[in-house]
Amino acid sequence: MASGGERGHWGSRLGFILAAAGSAVGLGNIWGFPYMTGRNGGGLFVLIYLIAVALVGLPIMMAELFIGRTAQNSPVGAFRSLSRPGSPWIGVGWVGVFAAFIILSFYSVIAGWSMHYIWLSVTDGFAGRTPDEISNMFSSLAANPELCTLWHGIFMLLTIGIVAGGVKGGLELCAKVLMPSLFGMLLILLVWGMTTEGFAPAFKYITGMHDADLLSRLGADQPRFSGRSWLEALGQAFFSLSLGMGALITYGSYLNRKADIVSTSIIISALDTTVALLAAFIIFPIVFAAGQQPGQGPGLVFATIPIAFSMMPGGALLAPIFFLLLTVAAITSAVSLLEVATSYFIDERGWTRGRATILAGTLIGLLGVPSAVSGGSKMFGQGFANLLNTLTFGAYGKNWFDAFVDLTFNLMLPLGALGIATFVAWRVGGQAREQGFKTGTTLGSLYWTWIGLLRYLVPIGVLAVILQALNLI
Ligand code: PFF
Repeated sequence: MASGGERGHWGSRLGFILAAAGSAVGLGNIWGFPYMTGRNGGGLFVLIYLIAVALVGLPIMMAELFIGRTAQNSPVGAFRSLSRPGSPWIGVGWVGVFAAFIILSFYSVIAGWSMHYIWLSVTDGFAGRTPDEISNMFSSLAANPELCTLWHGIFMLLTIGIVAGGVKGGLELCAKVLMPSLFGMLLILLVWGMTTEGFAPAFKYITGMHDADLLSRLGADQPRFSGRSWLEALGQAFFSLSLGMGALITYGSYLNRKADIVSTSIIISALDTTVALLAAFIIFPIVFAAGQQPGQGPGLVFATIPIAFSMMPGGALLAPIFFLLLTVAAITSAVSLLEVATSYFIDERGWTRGRATILAGTLIGLLGVPSAVSGGSKMFGQGFANLLNTLTFGAYGKNWFDAFVDLTFNLMLPLGALGIATFVAWRVGGQAREQGFKTGTTLGSLYWTWIGLLRYLVPIGVLAVILQALNLI
């Protein structure tokens, strides 16, 4: 049961906003959003993503903060205290804690790649290398699990150190320092990108005003928008806004009961979306200026950006800044993932923060090792990775890493989001809910819009993602 004494609170509204925005802004924005945009053909995907954030993501974010702030408890305890004894709703909290373990285990591996790229760009640099050599750098990193595991371990240690520092000292301080530097670095890169000849086509590409001639002259793929793009946009919105697994229930539980959750949610979503768009406006000019393919998939950041940096004046300086930025963004998200697991042990088991953080962090670190290894192994040979993948998710046609990404992105987060939306829309007492929504905000008149979205649009949209993931539609 809740131990009370170990629970912290945010020091200020700004501190909370930065920490929550820090959770939202991460690899999903800088690594995920640009490659998804490229793979789904640019402008139309961006438009649908924006609609998904506003009509589906935003109401769920308000619902998560509402649950956390009302219950002053982490996901499992929050669902327990807000529902009847023995009710199955507690399962939504469990899915969240479980998802935190799985997501952080592979998230830390990607963050580890990013750290390796800081190292690569400082020690070796990309200048003077051919594009093939540079993209091979990524394949050889993926096929070197000892190195991937090392960086994954270093990243997990950093995350554990910050979360062990607590709500005010750890999470808030980290966000207050790191988030503004992240914005600063993005702006520098944006201004620089605007000076390249790739900016005009990139602008047209992202805003959907491109013409096919321009793209083929640049040697770029033609845009591809398909039915699945709708669903990818929705899944990307959940991941990017940190929704569906209780991260924002946990952060909301450190808010005082009078805090405004409505405008706070709008600010966090706007910041997250701004960073995703900024990342696209930074990456696509480079892609177009260097004649790269926008639709090449998840390798876009790691395999393409260094190629572009190697060709451009100032690239040697910009490459480490870029990967530092990516790592910084990943850290502020990773701490929120670890916080979900940590707060479970603090609130449910009455453990001290130090003990809870170290145990959860170590377990997640170990769970991440197969993700780092699933690309292949020099030390144990490719046979080892093959055996691991076959024994685990082979029947499912995926390696461990891809299966974990797929499971969380397409199933656990949407299921969690559906549970959260349904709980708040249909289960929580109407009066307490209305009062909770209207507390501290000047936007109380949006109450019925919020309820309407949570009751009807959100479940339909989310179910569509789940059915698509299961290949049922
Ligand atoms: N929102 C993070 C990103 O965009 O990288 C990832 C994430 C963090 C997802 C926390 C879920 C979460 F609870």
